This record gives sequence, C-alpha cells and structure tokens, in this order.
Amino acid sequence: MSKTILVTGGTGYIGSHTCVELIQAGYEVVIVDNLYNSSKAVLKRIETITGVLPKFYQVDILDREGLEKVFEENHLDAVIHFAGYKAVGESVKIPLTYYQNNIAGSLNLYETMKKHHVYHLVFSSSATVYGDPASVPIRENFPLSTTNPYGTTKLYNEQILKDLAHSDENFSIVLLRYFNPIGAHKSGLIGEVPNGIPNNLLPYIAQVAIGKREYLSVFGNDYDTVDGTGVRDYIHVVDLAKGHLKALEYADKRKGIDAVNLGTGHGYSVLQVKDAFAKASGKEIAYKIVERRPGDIAECYADTSKAKEVLGWQAEYDIETMCQDSWRFQSQNPDGIND
Ligand code: NAD
Ligand code: WQD
Repeated sequence: MSKTILVTGGTGYIGSHTCVELIQAGYEVVIVDNLYNSSKAVLKRIETITGVLPKFYQVDILDREGLEKVFEENHLDAVIHFAGYKAVGESVKIPLTYYQNNIAGSLNLYETMKKHHVYHLVFSSSATVYGDPASVPIRENFPLSTTNPYGTTKLYNEQILKDLAHSDENFSIVLLRYFNPIGAHKSGLIGEVPNGIPNNLLPYIAQVAIGKREYLSVFGNDYDTVDGTGVRDYIHVVDLAKGHLKALEYADKRKGIDAVNLGTGHGYSVLQVKDAFAKASGKEIAYKIVERRPGDIAECYADTSKAKEVLGWQAEYDIETMCQDSWRFQSQNPDGIND
C-alpha cells in the first residue's frame, strides 16, 4: 500500500517540487498551507505535471484545531515540514512574527504528530545554521551559530527536534540543511515566485533579464574569492526535492535524528551565475558593483559526502541547467502562478 505524506508548505517553491517527485514515486500527498506565500493555482499545476490533484487543506500550522482535523482525517505515515517564513532581512525587522510562525507553528505540528503517533519527519533546515563557517566545504559536524532571527528559528527547531528524538525513541527525524536552491521544474509550470523585490540572487537576475528591474546590484567585489564576489552552492530545486524522498527512506531505516547537507559541493560566484544566466536566457544582465550586504559571508558550499553515504543521494543538474530552467519558468510566468 502506498504511503501518505503530509507536506506542510506544499504549495510553496520547494514544497511544490517535492510534491511532484513524491506523487511520481507513488506516494499519496496531503498538503497543508495557509497560502501566505503561494497560490492555490499551484495545485492544478501539480496535477498537470503528475496527473494527480493532491489533497489540500488551507490550514495555518498555528491553528491547532485545523491541524488536528488533518491528522484525524488522514492516515499519515510521515511529515515533510516546509511551512515557514524565510526572508532574512524581514526577520531582523519583525523577529517575534518569525518566532511565532516558525517556532510556535512547528511546536503545534510536532505535538500533533506525537499525539497521533506519526513519528517520521523531514525538516527543512538551512546552511544558515553554520553562521560564518571557519572553512569550506562545510561538514555537518561544524559548529552551529546564526546571525539573524530567521536562522535562529532554524537552529531552535533543530534543537527542539533533537530533544524530542532523545525523549521518545519512536521518532525518526532527518534535518536537511539546504544550500541555495534555484531552478524550476522542466515543464516551466512551477517555480519560485518572489514576493515584491527579490532578496535572493537568482530571482533578481531573472527579473533583470525579463526587463522588470534595470540592473543587478552585486553586493561587494572585494571578498577573498575567485573574482571578489560572494560564492555559494546553488542547487537545482528538483535535485533538492529528490533528496527529500531519500530522506524519507533513510527515516524508515533507522530511529533517532540526523542532519544532512543538501548541496552540490561546488561554489559559484555572483558574476559567474550572472554570466551563466545571460547565456541561458540570451539576455544581457546589466549590473553595478555596490557595497557589501551586511551579514553576508564570502564563501559557502557543502561537503556532500554524508548525503552520498547515508542517503545515497547526490545532485545531478549543473549551473547551466539551473539557469535555463529558472529562465523558462520566469519567461512563461512573468506575473507568477495564477489560475
Ligand atoms: P516558500 O515561501 O515558497 O514556501 C513556504 C510555504 O509555507 C508557503 O507556501 C507559505 O504559504 C507556507 N506557510 C508559511 N507559514 C505558514 C503557516 N503558518 N501555516 C501554513 N503554511 C505556511 O519557501 P521555500 O523556498 O519553498 O522554503 C521552504 C522551506 O525551506 C522553508 O522552511 C525555508 O525556510 C526553507 N529553506 C528555504 C531556502 C531557500 O532559499 N528557498 C533555503 C533553506 C531553507
Ligand atoms: C547569494 C549571493 C549575495 C542578491 C539566503 C539566506 C539563506 C538561505 C538562502 C534560507 C550572495 C549576492 C544577492 C543581489 C547580490 N535561505 N547577491 N545581489 O544570502 O547565500 O542565502 O538564501 O534558508 O539562509 O541567507 O542567498 O541569493 O540572497 O545571495 O550580489 O541582489 O548573491 O551577496 O553573495 P544567501 P542570496
């Protein structure tokens, strides 16, 4: 019998791609999302890609009764927990809102899971929990620290889940620390829809390419990197989504809690990504070098050996494909995902 997976935040960017991979692998999917940062139209897009319209609850994870209903009405085998706020700069301005949503909401979910004896969980963590790492590539056993409230909500969730796993041996939890997800499904039907002015590099470049923004501001060219601009480990969102299926299998095989990096292991600079995107889109990307962005680090990329070893997973798509797929989504959906 096929397994049923609850996907919180399942209409969002990474969640929607993961739902597609889950459905195509034969899982039943139940989505919980309050549509704060996504649209109901994503559900039909998932149906167009997979032939299956996922079961959907418009529920806020802060709504304990709403969550109860979902757990009562479905026999759930595992949860993948994406729901949360993710804008670093905003989290500095409204930290309590971030703690409320990302911590209190997650606590509701974990309590409801325990009550209903649903013990398998994959949690969306982030490379941000490594703070400013002493060296690269980053291994899972590096010291953890954060530089902003968003990152702290990820670190606290990790700690809460460690305590939970230690208190109850039924739990089997995988913390996935994502590096920089970009790209989109090859159909061009689902992808990242930034809210307002994009904070992240790829959606910003894509909007310059399509003519919505005049130029890219490159935040500093005096870092100790290949060309002075910041280096990151960009990973295709479909590779990332597949990593979640491997994490579910890993959770089936063992108990306790473990953290795994999901990255490619390769770093690209801002200017290298800009050039790759210009090539993929055939558009010139105007840019200006500006001041460093406060809180940014020079280099961040993953040591991927643990993911290979424990999940049997590694990223497949290269930076050219990531840019081509981002561009396809951007050009097919200039106004986002609507009905
Ligand atoms: P997203 O905003 O596209 O998706 C998150 C979804 O959660 C949205 O659909 C939103 O409506 C929903 N949501 C938010 N609060 C909710 C609540 N209280 N109740 C129900 N639904 C709620 O973001 P994403 O890029 O897909 O990120 C998914 C997860 O991965 C997040 O937890 C994020 O912090 C984490 N993550 C993202 C990145 C990245 O760069 N995108 C990197 C590392 C980690
Ligand atoms: C990448 C590089 C910028 C925009 C953030 C979060 C992290 C994770 C992923 C959730 C950096 C440069 C960017 C621009 C630029 N999210 N840049 N001009 O900062 O690595 O990570 O998203 O967990 O927690 O911090 O990603 O895409 O913002 O920046 O020059 O307009 O591009 O300085 O070097 P970042 P990013």
